[in-house]
Amino acid sequence: MALPEQFIQEVKMNNPIDSVMSGYANLIRRGRNAVCLCPFHSEKTPSCTVYLENNSFYCFGCGTGGDVVTFIMKIENLDYIEALKFLADRAGMTFPNEENDVRAGIPKARILEMNRAAARYFHDILKNSADGEKGRRYFAERQLLPKTITKYGLGYAPDDWHSLANFMHSQGYKDDELVTANLCDKGRNGGVYDRFRDRVMFPIIDLRGNVIAFGGRIIDGSGPKYLNSSDTPAFKKSMNLFSMNFAKRSDERRLILAEGYMDVISINQAGFENVVASLGTSLTQEQARLMSRYADEVIIAYDSDGAGQNATHKAINLLSAVGLKTRIIKMEGAKDPDEYIKKFGAPRFRQLLDKSAGAMEFEIAKCRSGLDISTEAGKVEYLKRCVKLFSEVASPIEREIYISRIADETKVHKEMLMQQVNGAIKKQINAEQKQQWADIRTFRDTMRSNPEAYKHPKEYKAETGVLAFIAAYPEDAEYVISKLSPEHFVTSFNKKVYEAIIEKTKKSAFYDILSLQSEFTADEMGKITEIAVNGKNVNIDRTTVDDLINILTEHKDDQPGADKLSDDDFRDYFKKLQSRK
Ligand code: CTP
Ligand code: MN
Repeated sequence: MALPEQFIQEVKMNNPIDSVMSGYANLIRRGRNAVCLCPFHSEKTPSCTVYLENNSFYCFGCGTGGDVVTFIMKIENLDYIEALKFLADRAGMTFPNEENDVRAGIPKARILEMNRAAARYFHDILKNSADGEKGRRYFAERQLLPKTITKYGLGYAPDDWHSLANFMHSQGYKDDELVTANLCDKGRNGGVYDRFRDRVMFPIIDLRGNVIAFGGRIIDGSGPKYLNSSDTPAFKKSMNLFSMNFAKRSDERRLILAEGYMDVISINQAGFENVVASLGTSLTQEQARLMSRYADEVIIAYDSDGAGQNATHKAINLLSAVGLKTRIIKMEGAKDPDEYIKKFGAPRFRQLLDKSAGAMEFEIAKCRSGLDISTEAGKVEYLKRCVKLFSEVASPIEREIYISRIADETKVHKEMLMQQVNGAIKKQINAEQKQQWADIRTFRDTMRSNPEAYKHPKEYKAETGVLAFIAAYPEDAEYVISKLSPEHFVTSFNKKVYEAIIEKTKKSAFYDILSLQSEFTADEMGKITEIAVNGKNVNIDRTTVDDLINILTEHKDDQPGADKLSDDDFRDYFKKLQSRK
């Protein structure tokens, strides 16, 4: 699909890279730039730089880089057009020809329309039909108020193989559409049958109010307790949260995260609008990121059983990784929030929220669990676990506080504990340095694996410099182009980039080297950004670029082979890149 260049520019303008990236990483402002832990590889010191002035980023650790569109392509795993759509959406812009978005032959809009019709149908049965009696009784038993049932659009799918299918056919929907929407399954002799039967129905609503999927809970019968829609062209489980459509309206900047649909509804009915749950799977990174857009703090209110506590531990890690503070409620006398509220009432639940402990207390309690610390062996194991836990705490002050607390508790010298923790930290730093050396070696190998550059390092340097110059001074591109033709390039990749730039300048006044995504893969865009980023500090101007151009135009291919870069040269080069943060 050809998109107007102007539209693409507007999408980028409306999506400043720092605001987009801060949904995925914790940006720290450094002068004109910002840095963060690279979201594309695992690291402990930030090597990803965000350039605010030209809306781009580059990671010195893994070489990933590009502009805001490349970033979204990589992190959300989308193609170029999808990434633009994503960003247009984010900025509230209308994408040209959105109704042409057809995957699997059935447009997303059609599926949303079917889901809405089905949700109305299930809801109507629950409220008004004789068939809905079983569902009504069930929700009454679970003490849901009529207004809650209406608010959540809850429904009942009758105990029948064709009730929804018949209704949907009467509305003009075809079998293959019903199957794609995951409302029906294909029967053995052709035809389709209802996927949800004799279940109370929970519609999943996205942030814009679309019904994107369903969860269906069994009442008695057999089969899994919950049946959820699989992913469809209109639904991605891992990217949505139940009840986020309500929670986003609360301006508390604080979310409650529960495990089940019923917990969410109960908590919401008790007066807490800011509660969400994941959708039939454990929490995902995308869901954590989604939460971080609406909150600074998440209170985890998972079930009190072992599974719930393990899930809590995982959730703490995922949520912390996107910069969210976490607190954990400690529930006694009830297995989940739903039961707690019924037994003790909403005010007691609020107290539970207010008393919720920080993540560290939860983690310390977890270290202690299963151990008898009045025995020597128990105490040693407890301390071991704590040392490991504390060594992962970034702030020295926080570390000291925790260490003092555990020293008091176990009657062990604080200094000794401190030493242990510092030792563990040192070990981690060593491991990181090792990793860095491995990075250097990979970098060198990549370089050597480019025989063209290896053979003509001087020309390679010159042409890379020319590209960097064009990236920094797009207004001078015409000048360079008038003096240098692509034939003078020694590496095919740089040549391809140069040719693409020539094409761009012919076509558009908006030209910018980072807007080449439509012709290059995300990985190639990383290389291009690297060139642009490294060129920034080299200070090439019109005179020096002439020298570079001369090197290239005077180059004859039969020149003697080039000198090799030694390991030390590579290390220096790599260090230079790293120090430019
Ligand atoms: N879940 C699921 N499939 C199952 C069991 C659970 O998808 N077979 C998901 C559902 O999203 C459910 C959540 O895990 O809401 C929590 O499960 P559970 O605690 O068993 O369900 P509740 O929603 O708490 O339901 P209830 O209170 O009715 O037991
Ligand atoms: Mn539950």
